Amino acid sequence: MQLTRKGLWAGIINEFREFLPEIGDDAIVTLLEGNTPLIEMANMKDIFGDIRLLFKFEGLNPTGSFKDRGMTFAVSKAKEDGAKAVICASTGNTSASASAYAAKAGMKSYVLVPEGSVALGKLSQAMMHGALVLQIKGNFDEALNIVKDITKNYPVTMVNSINPYRIEGQKTAAFEVAEHLGHAPTYHFLPVGNAGNITAYWKGYKEYKDKGVISSLPKMMGFQAEGAAPIVAGHPIEDPQTIATAIKIGNPASWAAALAARDESVGVIDSVTDEDILEAYKLLAGREGLFCEPASAAGLAGAIRMKKEGVLNDGDTVVCTLTGHGLKDPNMAINSCPKPLKVAADTKKILKAMGF
Ligand code: F0G
Repeated sequence: MQLTRKGLWAGIINEFREFLPEIGDDAIVTLLEGNTPLIEMANMKDIFGDIRLLFKFEGLNPTGSFKDRGMTFAVSKAKEDGAKAVICASTGNTSASASAYAAKAGMKSYVLVPEGSVALGKLSQAMMHGALVLQIKGNFDEALNIVKDITKNYPVTMVNSINPYRIEGQKTAAFEVAEHLGHAPTYHFLPVGNAGNITAYWKGYKEYKDKGVISSLPKMMGFQAEGAAPIVAGHPIEDPQTIATAIKIGNPASWAAALAARDESVGVIDSVTDEDILEAYKLLAGREGLFCEPASAAGLAGAIRMKKEGVLNDGDTVVCTLTGHGLKDPNMAINSCPKPLKVAADTKKILKAMGF
């Protein structure tokens, strides 16, 4: 099956409608998400040799993360069903996305976030989009349990990735990778938190293979942060810890589906240390010009590890999803770099500081 796209991008629902559950035209709530670039690695040949490495930069979605792909569909379906309000638990990005799409749909949004563990950019988004932001003294897993409780009894639609329309929307990222490459990658690396995204990519790749768009499937390579790696440990982590706050999750909702993605694809779910994550985060920004948030670099950190361990080989096509934009977490960026120099407003002194 050959797919051709014409004209201006119309958002993932319009673009991939034949591969998504039915939805009425009037219900579609879109910020024209999707169509993110798949960018070739340029300056990591010393690490990756003749591996073809590409970055799917999901930070370029309207609210700065991959969540927009799922949120357009979840909020559109909520609108179609007559919902007046949406709710989510979030480490930040889901809340930013939910509140933006709810604003566009004219709905109320409620977001539960763990106090002190949400990056500033994300918090500012939810606040600006008019969400009722509820900071709880507890972690993401506790917030998600409360949201599940509330949605059982009250007229608010849950837009966490337990909502199946979130996964439907997010699977379109796999469609785009397959279309851009003209085939499936050998390996697809990505960070794992609540495990919705690895589930969604795997669903997308399988569907494109079933439809004959691609003839092979990638191995799915999911990476958790070492202090928040319940799937690797094989049991929930009560008090997860990592600098990558987006994936600070101890009991992922899509645990079973993530294991299925790993096993069916003959892939891996493993962990990387916070140091590995920070190193990959800085490599992406400093060598490739790609500013992603810390959690987003866990996929590349995993790929570096797999290369060192001899799993990846020359000639492989490796895609890493960079799930969120670096501007989401300016504090982490500033704290990871040497301080700016303070110099007098004087040409000579500035030239000296420049090394001339
Ligand atoms: N990367 C980023 C930047 C994220 O925000 C998340 C999840 C993930 C990776 C992991 O994806 O949960 O599908 O395995 N963020 C959620 C949130 C939990 O609330 O924004 P996942």
